[in-house]
Amino acid sequence: MTNPESCTAWSILVELSKTVAPIRQLIHEPNPDLRINAAGISGDFTRQRVSPEVVNTLLELVDQTGVLELRDAMFSGQVINESEGRSVLHTALRLPIGSVLDIDGENVSDEVQSVLAHMSSFADSIRDGEWTGVTGKPINRIVNIGIGGSSLGPEMAYEALRAFASSEIEFAFVSNVDPTDIETALKCSDPERTLFIVASKTFTTAETMANAEVAKAWILERLNKYPSNEVIPCHFVAVSTNEGAVREFGIDPTNMFEFWDWVGGRYSLCSSIGLSTMISIGPIQFRKMLDGLNAMDSHFASAPIRQNMPLLMGAIAVWNRDFLSIETTAVLPYSQYLSRFPAYLQQLTMESNGKRVRKDGTPVTYNTGAIYWGESGTNGQHSFYQLLHQGTSIVASDFIIVAQESAGSVDQQEMLVANALAQAAVLSIGVTAEELILQNTPPALVTHKVMPGDRPVTVLMVKALDPFTLGALVALYEHSVFVQGAIWGINSFDQWGVELGKKVASGIANSFSDPKLRTDFDPSTVASIENYVTLMKER
Ligand code: F6P
Repeated sequence: MTNPESCTAWSILVELSKTVAPIRQLIHEPNPDLRINAAGISGDFTRQRVSPEVVNTLLELVDQTGVLELRDAMFSGQVINESEGRSVLHTALRLPIGSVLDIDGENVSDEVQSVLAHMSSFADSIRDGEWTGVTGKPINRIVNIGIGGSSLGPEMAYEALRAFASSEIEFAFVSNVDPTDIETALKCSDPERTLFIVASKTFTTAETMANAEVAKAWILERLNKYPSNEVIPCHFVAVSTNEGAVREFGIDPTNMFEFWDWVGGRYSLCSSIGLSTMISIGPIQFRKMLDGLNAMDSHFASAPIRQNMPLLMGAIAVWNRDFLSIETTAVLPYSQYLSRFPAYLQQLTMESNGKRVRKDGTPVTYNTGAIYWGESGTNGQHSFYQLLHQGTSIVASDFIIVAQESAGSVDQQEMLVANALAQAAVLSIGVTAEELILQNTPPALVTHKVMPGDRPVTVLMVKALDPFTLGALVALYEHSVFVQGAIWGINSFDQWGVELGKKVASGIANSFSDPKLRTDFDPSTVASIENYVTLMKER
């Protein structure tokens, strides 16, 4: 693991960042390296503030920091998640049928195909109405109970692929421990026709287990004519790596869809965590999603570095973060179906690269993961784009454009795409005072109307939002995140920063009923606990 700051390329980039031309100038010097097509996505990076020299030096940085070696180590199953002692093999989940990936004498691909076959037959039995609830009625509602990677991916994919979804089955995604989340989902559910998927890699996550217990009590109360050992197996299935806990909950282990510790939560959409997606779109379309992921994996693994989209995207993200000091990236999908994509990417990017020490535990002395956030267009335009255009913080943006409409009129689709292209142009190029004066802008308004431009923009365009394309888009971001983490020398696959809060929350919960336990906490926390306890007494 190399400290990137010690690389010669890093020092050259520091110098280049002081002199690099603005985007409005660079855009007229077309650099073919900044347009790449892969797996049905055309990536346009010509609105980034990168000169050919910057691109060349970023690729040298990729080389000097050993990104390609780490990539190969990931694909071949080496233990690159060192702090958890695990391989990182989500790419194995989407290998074509018949592939061989030998890890410690086992063909991992065979295990993957066998779980996919289990998922497919189960999904078909729900879709065909063969699987019934305990009263003999077919299932018409699936409630996925999970949080983080066990919810964000499935929910995002369900929304994105609505055009492919079964119209016979409704879906709900419950994640928050806020009781209103599960209550809202249950209110609209018919107990006789609802199936709960309890999705949790560990099967110990507090929010998920609390919601699953509420769902269990709800259904047992309503179907109380039947014994619980008949109700639970018909109405609950699990997606997990923890068979013991699944069994203890009462779920029949034959209805547990397995995955493996080498699949990180935020990389698990294409594992059995995607069961709800498969039920919604069917096994054939799910396979197409896996093919899209695999197409981008193959591109990342083998395309030359100058035509490698995730590599360029990741390297540019490092440039923006460390050399142009840009702290945040807005994800702006111009597709209503991709409305949950920014939320999905928040976990993928920030849980992966929100790290402050390198793999060997030494502190980083440079910036790592940017803040990702976003909203589907054009809603964002009437909300926060003012700051993107004229605020004092520079925000990088990823525009995601779908050419063909998934529903509705071509006219509206054209308006949508025109808005995306207009915003991408204005953010990156802007308008100067001189241009405004030439356009007869009233003098008093000129300074108000100046648009500084120079906001870096990536435009990702796809023909249509189908399972294959969605898969490719997900893998593109996964690998871009990988490249960033590899350059920074951090572990993109652990998440130690989320642990302490969970432990403190459990201590606070115990202290609500036992004031003696409050001594562990700081005065502000104690005051808030007391305030809460008082307010609760007033119920
Ligand atoms: O707390 C963070 C986290 O561990 C995520 O990484 C993960 O996606 C989420 O919790 C849910 O974990 P599980 O699938 O084990 O319930």
